[in-house]
Amino acid sequence: TVMKEVFDTQSMEEELQVHLGIEEVHIVPGDSDVHGWVKKELGRTAVGVVKQRLQPSGNIIAVTGGTSIAAVAEMLVPDSDLKEALFVPARGGLGEQVENQANTICATMARKAMGSYRLLHVPDQLSREAYDSLINEPSVQSILKLIHSATMVIHGIGDAQTMAERRSTSPEVLEKLRRKKAIAEAFGYYFNAEGEIVHKVLTIGLQLEDLEHTDAILAVAGGASKAEAVEAYMKKAPAQVLVTDEGAAKRMLRRN
Ligand code: F6P
Repeated sequence: TVMKEVFDTQSMEEELQVHLGIEEVHIVPGDSDVHGWVKKELGRTAVGVVKQRLQPSGNIIAVTGGTSIAAVAEMLVPDSDLKEALFVPARGGLGEQVENQANTICATMARKAMGSYRLLHVPDQLSREAYDSLINEPSVQSILKLIHSATMVIHGIGDAQTMAERRSTSPEVLEKLRRKKAIAEAFGYYFNAEGEIVHKVLTIGLQLEDLEHTDAILAVAGGASKAEAVEAYMKKAPAQVLVTDEGAAKRMLRRN
């Protein structure tokens, strides 16, 4: 019956909360690896969490790229509390297609929520020299200030191998990721099974340690193929809320 399903989801959410050691877990039915509509549900549920976690004023919401966060953007609707929110991309170029870049998602969110946004124009694959000079640009400095004072961060988590392939990662870095047994990726950082950082993409923006000062951190990641990645990332991450799906949750809890 429906009641039974509702109850089961709730107990699985509690179990997963304990398993991952985080504050809050939401599980939507289905597996986004198998059905595209499940990702939309991830987005819808995440929007609910965003609204719950808004501060009375001064909301600065930093977002990452990827299809899961793009789904969150698609599900946003105007809301009086969101109108005053400022959306910013969490980090600069990470090698995603335009529609899945943090900048694009950030602009879409602001449009849908009728809020405002600022963009961070930083090319992918920065050299050390380019990084050093860009970081001192006044326009970059002013948006970095906003990113560092984000009140909420909404981010995706990916499987390390999948993400390395999706970005045009050099053979040297691919080899390093293999050697260091990278399992998960988030924010341009790669992590091993213990949740330790094994590689970081050189780009400007939010650093992992900045999250320690963020009031609300929301991770959105589903699909059974991401189970190991989510578990690895959550080992050390300061994430508070995870929105995931049944496919990922069951595999994390060894139910399939
Ligand atoms: O590249 C941005 C990013 O948020 C990564 O940090 C993350 O691994 C990935 O996208 C998740 O993408 P998707 O939601 O499409 O699986």
